[in-house]
Amino acid sequence: MTVKLKENIYWVGAIDWTLRDFHGYVTGRGATYNSYLIIDEKITLVDTVKEPFCSELLERIRSIVDPGKIDYIICNHIEKDHSGSLLACLKEFGDVKIFSTKMAQAGLEKYYGPGLPVETVKTGDSVKLGKKTVQFLEVPMLHWPDSMFSYVPEDKLLLSNDGFGQHIATSGRFDDDVAEYEVMFEARKYYANLLTHLAPLIQNALKKVTELGLEIDMIAPCHGIIWRKDPGKIIQAYNDWSLHKAKDKVSVIYDTMWKSTEIMAKGIVETITDAGFEVRLLKLRETHRSDVMAEILDSKGIFIGSPTIHRQLFPTVADLLCYMKGLKPQNKAAAAFGSFGWSGEAVQMISDDLKEIKLDVIEPGVRAKYLPDESEMKEVHALSRTMIEKIRAMG
Ligand code: FEO
Repeated sequence: MTVKLKENIYWVGAIDWTLRDFHGYVTGRGATYNSYLIIDEKITLVDTVKEPFCSELLERIRSIVDPGKIDYIICNHIEKDHSGSLLACLKEFGDVKIFSTKMAQAGLEKYYGPGLPVETVKTGDSVKLGKKTVQFLEVPMLHWPDSMFSYVPEDKLLLSNDGFGQHIATSGRFDDDVAEYEVMFEARKYYANLLTHLAPLIQNALKKVTELGLEIDMIAPCHGIIWRKDPGKIIQAYNDWSLHKAKDKVSVIYDTMWKSTEIMAKGIVETITDAGFEVRLLKLRETHRSDVMAEILDSKGIFIGSPTIHRQLFPTVADLLCYMKGLKPQNKAAAAFGSFGWSGEAVQMISDDLKEIKLDVIEPGVRAKYLPDESEMKEVHALSRTMIEKIRAMG
């Protein structure tokens, strides 16, 4: 089934209902690869789909138009979830022109070989399709250096590729077809895991959209639902996330061997809860790093706890810290805690990593030998109170 977005513009993408891992990111609700077909004097496909879904894409196109009549392919981004069906489409469509950024052209040739019929475009360029026009806007690193948005001014439609997406497979294609909570939950997780470290570039992209005076009535990303009821909601959320705005919320993230670090974690939860803040307790062996990053994104405070094992961090904690060093969440207070038997290096290692990420680290963290005793639990509660003061001072 195809879905009409605007007069002569259709969704012709694919739904990946059973996907549970998107290059290491847990997709509990599946995913979609959205492609859009514009019917005009020049018939245009905007982005393709992940290669295994190519026949689904072609079938949807065929239900509207003979694929051999397609004139243009707009490649907003070369990552294979969007370009994976490009060669098959070229074979099916025959003589077409591909529009992409210069960066994308180089990437497409590396992926698929030289000689592709690419015409490169940059911000401010546009192509007239007939009654409709497509304007191009480069948005480097949203999500790769080659990325761009396409905009159809006649329909006030922004085709934003990875931008404003969510990994969610649904039967309805629009924001008003799906519970707002589900969509915003997945949009937050998507941003947290793909875009957190690109905050300044996202601010630039939002500024460019404003400077170009793009009126936006609908945002159609390449993943998840299409924003037609309230596109301003996701723009506002991206603005807030990229300005590192967060809630009076504390995420207590830990792993444990014999429950000593867990006892400390629960002590922190108790004190923070008593202060009236929202709290998340996240045990890393039970919670995937991609879910943890979503909680970190809108937390003003984070605690990370690890036992010391073999003079090192517990492996799940090391894994998370490595991931965080790449994504670089900012503007948060942070503190470390953990139990140990004899050497006890883990707490300092956590603090050092949190400082490397440039969080506001409360030191020293708290260590408990074997099993936290009364005095060590007092230190845990004192550290939690310091966190509360820091968050209150953030306003
Ligand atoms: Fe959905 Fe960066 O690809």
